[in-house]
Amino acid sequence: MSIVYDKASGLISLHTRRSTYQMKADELGFLLHVHYGGRLADADDLSGQLCLVDRGLCGNPYECGRDRREYSLDVLPQEYPCFGTGDFRTAALHVRSADGSRAAQLRFAGCRTEKGKYALEGLPALYGDEAEAESLIVTLRDPASALEVELQYGVLEDLDVICRSARIVNRGDGPVVLEKAASFCLDWPFGKFDWLTFHGRHAMERNMTRQGLRHGVQSVGCARGASSHQYNPFSILCAPDATETAGECWGACFVYSGEFLMEAELDQVDQTRLVCSIHPDDFAWTLAPGESFQTPEAILAYSDRGLGGLSRVFHRAIREHICRGPWRDRRRPVLLNDWEATYFDFTGDKLVSIAQKAAELGMELFVMDDGWFGRREDDNGGLGDWYPNEEKLGCTLRELAGRINALGLDFGIWFEPEAVSEDSGLYKTHPDWAVRVPGRDPCLARNQLVLDFSRRDVQDHIIGELSGILAGAPISYVKWDMNRSICDKFTASLPPERQGEFAHRYVLGLYRVLEELTAAFPQVLFEGCSGGGGRFDAGMLYYTPQIWCSDNTDPINRLDIQYGTSFCYPACTMGSHVSAAPNHQTGRTTPLSTRGCVAMAGCFGYELDVTRLSPAEQAEVRGQIACFRQYADLIRLGDHYRLRAPEEGCAVWEFAAPDGSEALVQAVYTRVEANPVPVHIRVRGLRPDSRYRVEPAGPVPAGDGAPDRGWSPLPAVLSGAALERSGLTLPPPRREHQSWQIHIRLCP
Ligand code: GLA
Repeated sequence: MSIVYDKASGLISLHTRRSTYQMKADELGFLLHVHYGGRLADADDLSGQLCLVDRGLCGNPYECGRDRREYSLDVLPQEYPCFGTGDFRTAALHVRSADGSRAAQLRFAGCRTEKGKYALEGLPALYGDEAEAESLIVTLRDPASALEVELQYGVLEDLDVICRSARIVNRGDGPVVLEKAASFCLDWPFGKFDWLTFHGRHAMERNMTRQGLRHGVQSVGCARGASSHQYNPFSILCAPDATETAGECWGACFVYSGEFLMEAELDQVDQTRLVCSIHPDDFAWTLAPGESFQTPEAILAYSDRGLGGLSRVFHRAIREHICRGPWRDRRRPVLLNDWEATYFDFTGDKLVSIAQKAAELGMELFVMDDGWFGRREDDNGGLGDWYPNEEKLGCTLRELAGRINALGLDFGIWFEPEAVSEDSGLYKTHPDWAVRVPGRDPCLARNQLVLDFSRRDVQDHIIGELSGILAGAPISYVKWDMNRSICDKFTASLPPERQGEFAHRYVLGLYRVLEELTAAFPQVLFEGCSGGGGRFDAGMLYYTPQIWCSDNTDPINRLDIQYGTSFCYPACTMGSHVSAAPNHQTGRTTPLSTRGCVAMAGCFGYELDVTRLSPAEQAEVRGQIACFRQYADLIRLGDHYRLRAPEEGCAVWEFAAPDGSEALVQAVYTRVEANPVPVHIRVRGLRPDSRYRVEPAGPVPAGDGAPDRGWSPLPAVLSGAALERSGLTLPPPRREHQSWQIHIRLCP
């Protein structure tokens, strides 16, 4: 049993394969956090370690009286601490009662278990059936205010994750305003930690930062409407000596695509707290009597196998229990996206000529990006008018899709459903549907506004428009874009005192639209996008099993972006394309082989005018696609190991078959020096006693200048033990940004 509750002692233990989460409802009724870490025996009760010491100026609950001065919520680890009643650290719950007071205190009122993983209405959540998961629902009550909180815990034993969420119910007879409602609070009574967070900007998303926690509160988050380019809703706490392969790590992945806040606090007695919530700066939710509020979910995981071990737990959780639909388990088509090939400058004939070459080269899907609809000649207008520009295309959308299909390619299309241009028919008809504050000029970004997705009529309109297009032409892929942050937040659908609900209601509206469309068109592959990777989160992955990782297609910058992304998200979620050289974002020229190598470590595709490739380049592209087909399952389903970080002069990563039968090592030199220091790596995930053949993989590069293959220790035949314990020396670089792909397979 993965959930064990001992009613007599109040101890609750949640066990996964390699971790235990323990809490205790004590004699005063507080739900204290006891342990989250390595797996304990069923009989272990760690609550004796909670340190009760009289600490100056740390208050005591009323009923402690004289005898219990040492019992203070200000220093005790708790499952869901409330603001205003004696715990002065970061709180999980801030409420404002009808009388204006802001204090709450929760006491244990019982718990129950359910088979299977709980689901959340209207919100994405990790799923698991009765054989895979058990759920625990703990009810807490505030004796003074009749506020009730249900803490939800989903335990996936084999997957090694614990999910958390909270439902807050107003059982009183007056309204209550939630000013902050965290999805979880996690306390560590002991230990020193580094905090890994993932920051970025447009076209440079998810750079990993690792810093020791300092006293006080440190946080990442955003109030931009979407989870953002600037901070990813994922973070890791780890032991300062944790490495890729060893050491204790705890990860928290917020399954949410809107505004969020993750706060880490090191308190006065060196205890650590991590709290994750919808961003409270932009949140105030009124609960009328009897109403409830459901927080989004967070996925927690613990690993004592280092950062790599932790990442692989999240990869599996996201790949198998967040991503859904027929595309979850299918190899994704090798696509050609026309954006960097044509931008807005195309006709139907031009697209068909590019598609024809793409088909000849072995690609499977042609995606028509921005510019096909309304009067969208540049990025200043047209958004919201989702009807094809037949004059520009020279035919109907159905006819164009038919012409592409006739080449043997599937047809995909770009939308930005949440956006509206002032210069559009939709805006002229429904100016009130755009998000803006009445009487104030709105902030423009890319000259566009955002539709008020918190409104049901707007949601219904977009569902209708997109359904019409998807039903009217053979479309097998949709790129769902969103190209600005949201400000000037206001909705005509809520009264003044409830405007603080807008940001979350927007996300709920977005999820409803995505749910309806993905359910109605299950065969369509949806790819998320937000100016590249501005909404790369587990919430979106519940609807779109892949997301365009970044608008930056430079393979050298992509190494950093994909490296940072890989701490939480598996390669099969990262849209990644080969683009032209020199690169459009950085001006850098890199070998086609390196562009191919980096793009293959994701959802592989091309984004350039393939009609301009030389015959040698065309041959290389054919070879790349054949190579990708050969390794696609290994990349999609294999265990991902980060062997060397890009900043180390040569980025190296590996996909190993879960059964150890083969592995693909991919390496890109980011720096080339004369007389180079050899790059040595240890290959992971193989069977120690088996023998493997190690040989270069991938097509022979088109040879744009310098010789690619010089001295090489490959091929070789070695045991799994030798490859892991001693390893491989990579062939040295012969030119800048050279890449290597090495295939390792069992000897027959
Ligand atoms: C965003 C996307 C790009 C492209 C453009 C089109 O920037 O991230 O991939 O689709 O919009 O306008």
